[in-house]
Amino acid sequence: MVILNVKTVSSQGTMMKSEKSHMLSTLKKIALRYNPSEVFRSAFASPKATWAYYRRHIKAPTLPSRMMIDPINICNLKCPLCPTGVGTYGARRAKMSYELFEHILSLNPNVRMADLYNLGEPFLNPDIFKMFKLCREKDIRTSTHTNLFYDRSIIDQMLENPPARLHLSVDGATPETYSIYRAGGDFNRIRENMEYLSDRIRKTGKGPAVEWVFLFHKGNKQDIFTAREMARRLNFQFFVRPLVVPPHLAPEWHDPEDLKKVSASFHMNVVCPHLWLKMTIKPTGALAFCCFAYDDADDIGSLADLNTPEELLALWNEGIVRRGRTCFQRKGTFREISKPMLCETCNVYKRSNGLDPKKYPYNTHAHDWMDREFPPPNVKK
Ligand SMILES: C[S@@+](CC[C@H](N)C(=O)[O-])C[C@H]1O[C@@H](n2cnc3c(N)ncnc32)[C@H](O)[C@@H]1O
Ligand code: SF4
Repeated sequence: MVILNVKTVSSQGTMMKSEKSHMLSTLKKIALRYNPSEVFRSAFASPKATWAYYRRHIKAPTLPSRMMIDPINICNLKCPLCPTGVGTYGARRAKMSYELFEHILSLNPNVRMADLYNLGEPFLNPDIFKMFKLCREKDIRTSTHTNLFYDRSIIDQMLENPPARLHLSVDGATPETYSIYRAGGDFNRIRENMEYLSDRIRKTGKGPAVEWVFLFHKGNKQDIFTAREMARRLNFQFFVRPLVVPPHLAPEWHDPEDLKKVSASFHMNVVCPHLWLKMTIKPTGALAFCCFAYDDADDIGSLADLNTPEELLALWNEGIVRRGRTCFQRKGTFREISKPMLCETCNVYKRSNGLDPKKYPYNTHAHDWMDREFPPPNVKK
């Protein structure tokens, strides 16, 4: 926030009107994004886990209060930079059964937040509605991400048992720009579904908090303003983030100026929370390092084979997970690791160990600031 304040004060020391309103909208986004209930549930519901993360302890004292549980790794779209969309994926395709989901929740008495998505279209699993319902009965707050490319009846079922937060992945405001990345999708149908969803929520006064997240690239960024206006009309929150692209493909997808802004907008070195605060479970029930660890060869073990929370805690402290945590030891105590492991190929790890952030500019987090770079045409930057 300090950085933001510095940036938004003009050279005369007075704040321009557009800058002020941008700051207010940013504050509103922070409040909505870091919903107090979610912050509390993920950080304070399991204070020992939070402390272990803060101190970077190698042994986790307790199970985390947040779990990412992927209900399915199959999709109806073919997004060209998504491992599921392109099929460059060393994972067995699977749909999680409701029984396995129930079993997973029973293994973690600390869980207070469940993110039901990762590498597929969650609503292709017909049991997802029951999963949301079970979470609500257990006072577990849920969220999911969706492409919204399906029959309206799915929306009806979802509204009967909604997640607390619904993230819509819609990257465009016309059929042409939308399908540059969302290959196989039909924007007109998705727009109708958005209208329908908004209308149902307005009429019933019930439903998830909806956020439209627009991943921009050079082929769709001219739509940002139109999309933001549409989101306002539909009463959805609106966020703009960069499409994450491997460095060798970056010139194909992004204008050089935008790439510079993306790298400049995030210079914080973070310690990866996944190894302490958020457990990632694949549709097969396998425990993964994080949401990027989709290859079955990197699985740590399977929750389907466990019977008690103690067994799960033991798996959470398996040798390989502890080795992952050693990657994030504080500077000075950083341990040399004899054999490279998954975390060492990740930008979060590289940055946390002080490697050149300009060389590893991409991070999917904390890019909501980016929409200040694309103001409406009548606002002076
Ligand atoms: C793999 S998707 C699975 C959920 C659902 N199918 C969807 O697309 O929302 C999970 C998240 O990854 C995002 N995503 C996909 N490709 C991306 C990319 N190249 N850069 C950044 N985020 C991406 C999606 O927009 C979505 O928010
Ligand atoms: S819609 Fe989601 S899961 Fe499907 S291909 Fe696109 S990003 Fe991947």
